[in-house]
Amino acid sequence: MSDSRVLSTATPRDLYLDLMARVLTRTGFEGSGSGGLVNVSKHSYAAYLRDLLFDSLAPAQVALVQALPADPEDRAEGRGWPSADAETMIGLRRLANIRECVEAVITEGTPGDLVETGVWRGGATIYMRAILAAHGVTDRQIWACDSFEGLPPPSEEHFPHDAGDVLYTAEALAVTVEQVKDNFRRYDLLDDKVTFVKGWFEETIPSAPIEQIAVLRLDGDMYSSTIVVLENLYDKVTPGGFVILDDYVEIAACRQATEDFRAKREITDPVKAIDRSGAFWRKS
Ligand SMILES: C[S@@+](CC[C@H](N)C(=O)[O-])C[C@H]1O[C@@H](n2cnc3c(N)ncnc32)[C@H](O)[C@@H]1O
Repeated sequence: MSDSRVLSTATPRDLYLDLMARVLTRTGFEGSGSGGLVNVSKHSYAAYLRDLLFDSLAPAQVALVQALPADPEDRAEGRGWPSADAETMIGLRRLANIRECVEAVITEGTPGDLVETGVWRGGATIYMRAILAAHGVTDRQIWACDSFEGLPPPSEEHFPHDAGDVLYTAEALAVTVEQVKDNFRRYDLLDDKVTFVKGWFEETIPSAPIEQIAVLRLDGDMYSSTIVVLENLYDKVTPGGFVILDDYVEIAACRQATEDFRAKREITDPVKAIDRSGAFWRKS
């Protein structure tokens, strides 16, 4: 489709939400100083950290990794590590999935709030808030749940699938709640419709005052951070609501936690892939 056809057929809502997705991912800003990526995935970042911490990667190799040019397809797939100030690492396809799910529950009147567990710089939740604003929806809340200090060290005794996980050492994953609020303010989207739940999921999620959920998005990167959320929030998801797993394809521990939960609860709703990492199902 030519650019002029996009402009002539797109609604103002499409134009706003497309622009938000591009800016939140810094798609199209490559080379501007805002769009560069450290060209390693979340998963290989763990290996990169391990090498860095426990010897072998020479400084020259680190510089080489950081100097790789950004590929626009990386932003579409959410591949790579945003090095600058992008508010989300999840990419355009997973943002489009959020829009599809949120618009489906709005259109069909499926009641409930929108929750993300694992918000990092806040981009996915900012996008959720933008979608509600674009539809004039005022009766749903956004819940942004995070430690706002990075991931916990693995508890290998309780969650053997997390053994050896080193993401807790990644300072880049520790973003304060004030920074995330500033990111919402940057888009004029911080208001009383957004609630921040700060702390380790194990301690906060079981007692979080969330009553009913239409879209539950999990992005905690670990077995423990996935299973705790499913066990405590799944029953609050309304039939017709969505469960989105950011790391289902890419991180084996997250897939295992999801499959363990689905088997225990005998959930057979089909899991559909979004891109090379994310997947979702709709609760029947
Ligand atoms: C990959 S990042 C989330 C990316 C984000 N959804 C985005 O749009 O870019 C993972 C986040 O999960 C949080 N996290 C992981 N496990 C957690 C836990 N057990 N308790 C609290 N926060 C956790 C980390 O602090 C981090 O911000």
